[in-house]
Amino acid sequence: MSVLIKGGRVVTAADTFLADVHVEGERISRVGTSLEADADIVVDATGKLVLPGAIDPHTHLDMPFGGTVTIDDFTSGQTAAVFGGTTCHIDFAIQSRGQTFNEALDVWHGKADGKGVIDYGFHIIVTDLEEGGSLEELATVPDRGVTSYKMLMAYKGVFLVDDETLFEVMRLAARTGALSMIHGENGDVIDVLVKQAVADGNLAPRYHALTRPPELEGEATNRAIQIAHVAGSPLYVVHVTCKDAVHPIAKARRAGWDVWGETCTQYFFVDVTDLDEPDFGGAKYVFSPPVRDKSNQPVLWDAVRTDALSVISTDHCAFLLDGQKTLGKDDFSKIPNGAPGLEERLKMIHHFGVNEGRITLNRMVELLSTNPARLFGLYPRKGTIAPGSDADIVIFDPARKTTLTAATMHGNQDYTLYEGTEVTGDVDTVLIRGTVVVDGGELKVEPGFGRFVKRARFGQHLV
Ligand code: URP
Ligand code: ZN
Repeated sequence: MSVLIKGGRVVTAADTFLADVHVEGERISRVGTSLEADADIVVDATGKLVLPGAIDPHTHLDMPFGGTVTIDDFTSGQTAAVFGGTTCHIDFAIQSRGQTFNEALDVWHGKADGKGVIDYGFHIIVTDLEEGGSLEELATVPDRGVTSYKMLMAYKGVFLVDDETLFEVMRLAARTGALSMIHGENGDVIDVLVKQAVADGNLAPRYHALTRPPELEGEATNRAIQIAHVAGSPLYVVHVTCKDAVHPIAKARRAGWDVWGETCTQYFFVDVTDLDEPDFGGAKYVFSPPVRDKSNQPVLWDAVRTDALSVISTDHCAFLLDGQKTLGKDDFSKIPNGAPGLEERLKMIHHFGVNEGRITLNRMVELLSTNPARLFGLYPRKGTIAPGSDADIVIFDPARKTTLTAATMHGNQDYTLYEGTEVTGDVDTVLIRGTVVVDGGELKVEPGFGRFVKRARFGQHLV
């Protein structure tokens, strides 16, 4: 099968230019002006942007959490993703206590096998080096194409690991060519504050943020940066929300340390006042780290513009407001943490980032596609438009207006954080590995089309 995309404006992290893109089989064969080529399918992209498919390195599909399971599985979550222009994501496979890492990966492959409509990889979340997994076994995980180890410094009694484990895993990552990842919040102190709030009868959603102050994100982020430096490991800090955490990352990067940070779409748009939405509406905004004071939002835009932060992900972790979030109706500490975002990311960042002049189109591509690909061992197979790369391509109409509403979204979510928001810029057609996956508002492939991608080790290319 061959495809010719004619007359669009191709946008990569580096350049913007008018060109045709020719696809043969699964890969891009040529990019150039006025290409003369036979093709089974010709797509007229005049007036449209031709973008590399967005890559989301932070999702939680079919994940047990907070006494329930996230509402999007690998079919519904990936369907939402592709309608939003995301063609590849990396989900977190969680090692339960007592489980080996290979058992955890088998479980996550079982959740995804035969269900996906886009390509995907896994990170491994390390929770236990005593009863289940060992460092020796963790060293073998990159051989399965899982080349990033995540540790959570938050969620005491569930995921939290101590500094000794952080250090040992980071030292191992330095040896095995994995990328260390951390969720930076001080879970011990948060645990004390949460227990105190509950004992004092402070049970409304707003106490979720008040018991997780930004200083505790700043402290944990800086601690992880220092530990990773001593361990000699590259470090990626997930979902950075506030200046307290941006500053130590920016400082480490200025010093030339191998440290990168990501933020997520929601932290640019929702803030601590949203937790007070009436009738338990504040529960929609309960995720961790929490929504912050609005003064952090320009800091985050500045950080993604200047490369203090290098990726915008979603942390898609969807729970129904009605029936799942309500587990915490009378106690904020029982509200499952997480929110949807896979379908919304590209449109929100294009409109409020690019259209409103906060970042360039090239920087948007870098933040949503090229940098995730580079950092997580997918580049140059994915994350750019170039001969030899997978034909993961989004044809995007930069002039079409659309209104974001949960009613027309494609996942199982019953709310969006951006209900009623009008944006200019919408996804027209999506190709993955040369196959048209979305066109004319319709999904064109069956579950099982999506493929697991074995990622390269940190700093290595996937060709
Ligand atoms: O609230 C969130 N973010 N839920 C997902 C787990 C995590 O902390 O990333
Ligand atoms: Zn997450």
